[in-house]
Amino acid sequence: MQLSSTQTIPEISGVPRHLAIIMDGNGRWATRRLLPRTAGHMKGVQTVRRVVEQCGQAGVKYLTLFAFSSENWRRPEDEVSLLMRLFVQALEKEVHKLEKKGVRLRVVGDLSRFDPHLRELIQQAEAKTAHNDSLHLTIAANYGGRWDILQATQQLLLARPELAQDPTALNETHFSPYLSMAFAPEPDLFIRTGGEQRLSNFLMWQLAYTELYFTEIYWPDFNSDHLKAAFEWYGQRERRFGRTSAQL
Ligand code: IPE
Ligand code: IPE
Ligand code: MG
Repeated sequence: MQLSSTQTIPEISGVPRHLAIIMDGNGRWATRRLLPRTAGHMKGVQTVRRVVEQCGQAGVKYLTLFAFSSENWRRPEDEVSLLMRLFVQALEKEVHKLEKKGVRLRVVGDLSRFDPHLRELIQQAEAKTAHNDSLHLTIAANYGGRWDILQATQQLLLARPELAQDPTALNETHFSPYLSMAFAPEPDLFIRTGGEQRLSNFLMWQLAYTELYFTEIYWPDFNSDHLKAAFEWYGQRERRFGRTSAQL
């Protein structure tokens, strides 16, 4: 079971153990070049490959990428279906390589809305890489932080109906194992590319004490120097978890 930053003070090091990224700016990257937005998504896949590689080398243990939010269904139908196709393609093409590199792949989110073929590919990819441990790569797809908190509450109440009779007994230790990221420590570093400074319903519960880094760089342009700069910035943060500087 993973420790909670609000219940214990986590051990930290200069390199983030868990990095969570909102990969934003694909559409604007393409529009600037007079290309269709979908060209930005295709280019963005290359950045994913680079970042996975670099995180493995840097010693990041958990990398979580926001690929499709529970609100992204509101986009035009052709964009949504291109994103689904890219997801299928990536699973078909990349899983073998990930498996060889020691990467364990997981997909979190409400998968029930995906078509059966995609769900099947996800299941196979997770099974095929389940023995790996060098880097835990998680793709958040049809994920929403509010959905996660609600689904965890539902699962908890189904498993422990007696807690509903005594709600004051309920604590984090009961609840957090049902969150979809329960297998990972809380993110140390959060990066959002593309210039927006918001969470867009990403890991609402888990980001409580995460260091938040925002960059104007569009995701397709985000390169190894940009990631290095984010790591350096992270290394200089004083993570107090509620304490004073003098106590550290
Ligand atoms: C992020 O890029 C990718 C997804 C949300 C799937 P966007 O598509 O949001 O790009 P912008 O923000 O419109 O530039
Ligand atoms: C957040 O980006 C979701 C992903 C990157 C997958 P959005 O582009 O959907 O966020 P908003 O709509 O600008 O807040
Ligand atoms: Mg966006």
